[in-house]
Amino acid sequence: CGIVGYIGQKDSKEILLKGLEKLEYRGYDSAGIAVMNENGVHVFKEKGRIATLREEVDPTVEASVGIGHTRWATHGVPSKVNAHPHQANTGRFTIVHNGVIENYAQLKEEYLQHVELKSDTDTEIVVQVLEQFVNQGLEVEAAFRKTLSVLKGSYAIALLDEQNKETIFVAKNKSPLLVGLGDNFNVVASDAMAMLQVTDQYIELMDKEIVIVTKESVTIKNLAGETINRDPYTAELDASDIEKGTYPHYMLKEIDEQPLVMRKIVQQYQNEQGELTIDSAILDAMNEADRIYIIAAGTSYHAGLVGKQFIEKMAHIPVEVHVSSEFSYNMPLLSKNPLFVFISQSGETADSRGVLVHVKDLGYKALTITNVPGSTLSREADYTLLLHAGPEIAVASTKAYTAQMAVLSILAYVTAQSKGLMVGMDLVKELGIIANSMEVLCDDKEEMEAIAREYLSTTRNCFFIGRALDFYVGLEGALKLKEISYIQAEGFAGGELKHGTIALIEDGTPIIALATQEHVNLSIRGNVKEVVARGANPCIISMKGLETNEDRYVLPVVNDMLTPLISVIPLQLISYYAALHRDCDVDKPRNLAKSVTVE
Ligand code: G6P
Repeated sequence: CGIVGYIGQKDSKEILLKGLEKLEYRGYDSAGIAVMNENGVHVFKEKGRIATLREEVDPTVEASVGIGHTRWATHGVPSKVNAHPHQANTGRFTIVHNGVIENYAQLKEEYLQHVELKSDTDTEIVVQVLEQFVNQGLEVEAAFRKTLSVLKGSYAIALLDEQNKETIFVAKNKSPLLVGLGDNFNVVASDAMAMLQVTDQYIELMDKEIVIVTKESVTIKNLAGETINRDPYTAELDASDIEKGTYPHYMLKEIDEQPLVMRKIVQQYQNEQGELTIDSAILDAMNEADRIYIIAAGTSYHAGLVGKQFIEKMAHIPVEVHVSSEFSYNMPLLSKNPLFVFISQSGETADSRGVLVHVKDLGYKALTITNVPGSTLSREADYTLLLHAGPEIAVASTKAYTAQMAVLSILAYVTAQSKGLMVGMDLVKELGIIANSMEVLCDDKEEMEAIAREYLSTTRNCFFIGRALDFYVGLEGALKLKEISYIQAEGFAGGELKHGTIALIEDGTPIIALATQEHVNLSIRGNVKEVVARGANPCIISMKGLETNEDRYVLPVVNDMLTPLISVIPLQLISYYAALHRDCDVDKPRNLAKSVTVE
């Protein structure tokens, strides 16, 4: 979901639609724009893709002010009626909103008993409440501030007032939003990528701020109405980074970028002597901690599971890994000196941010590992480590996952060195080998496509098994497959399958088994035998030196502890091809959002 806005001299329609296209990667199920000219406000919205919205937009309407939105349904099904923008009953005010208004039912009860609502959304409540306040005699800006002060929850809002054609009103709380600056125009965007086409100058907004945006000015205020000054920053994104180039899909491009990202990470974390380094404040925090709590969601959680092994094995600090949405409401007993490590590609995941706010309130230190400098989780944590993976656009995370593991390995390694512990490897060299091996795997796409065709073109389900590190990679492999191909896929610890899930094995059920870990090689092969005896169709992916002639694919040799960085590549590619064979929308899978800014 995302927001854009434009106020200036040009026709806004195309700028807004292009902006929304750049936000498509975040995931959405409906979209809309509202543009305002001397004849009033014109709203166009549709369920489905931006391409469908484009057909809906009347090309003859010209307007130099407008707002736009992609919606990922929370309250109310995806539909044209529930799509944004929403208007209050007189049509004077038009709003787009990201986030969740938690007290929408109370607001409805308190302010809107006699107002007829058109949609099922919490957003419409916001604009209707605003109109009530204006009807009671408040100036629009004051009514806007009063509305925001009664809202509970998260929001990024852009608002048009038909009686003030020179202004876009903007507000933010917990959901990301930026204002971009131009020459005789200004823009609003959920992230800089959306408006990079027109400007690279952005102002960050903080929670509970409102902004009055005209074509010449940007005025930031707090809810008390006091003006706040803030300098813009230059968004250091390369427009070409967010283009597909010759690739048919972002996901494939991002898979192929992984060797490059590995080399970039090593470079970024090397000092002049070529040694890996980490900010000493972070090392101090690591060394002071008696336990590390990794908090993350989705793919980042899977990277965290691998990170735990790195930190425990290399740096000898105990680590717990938690799913952020659970941690908030079901907090484990904490150690005396915990350090919290948030892993988030986007740096915006609301579930993780909820935990961060909570642990900061408790007075604990937090480190964020993210791909997005300046993101909410990065700003609000004490320390940040960047992934340097470049923008990840495909909803299914690939290069961010391997980058997260690489950065976690560096964190573990440098912490170990700072404690004088022997790690027994040269990580710079090992990550170089990883990059080269990734290249070999990325060059073997035909084979990956063949595996996808052989095992996955018609199956209903698929299981991934592995032991130790391979188990965690299996979880990620299963997530990739289900996200983009909609095949029901689950990852299991090899030994656990027999305790229930083996009941699902039928003739021909595909089992993708990873065998990259020497110390469990025999046991995982035993688990494969158990499922084969029940009719499963096994696809064993092993590592050179451990292979047998039953294996379907053999990975090049890398350091035993770093195998997840390469064993995931065939799984990413197999998922990609399985999705293609099934005619699925690889980059924009149904129901998913890239950065989930709601709880
Ligand atoms: C969403 C995405 C996943 C991602 C997860 C965590 O659910 O669809 O691909 O892994 O959020 O995102 P983060 O940006 O915090 O890593």
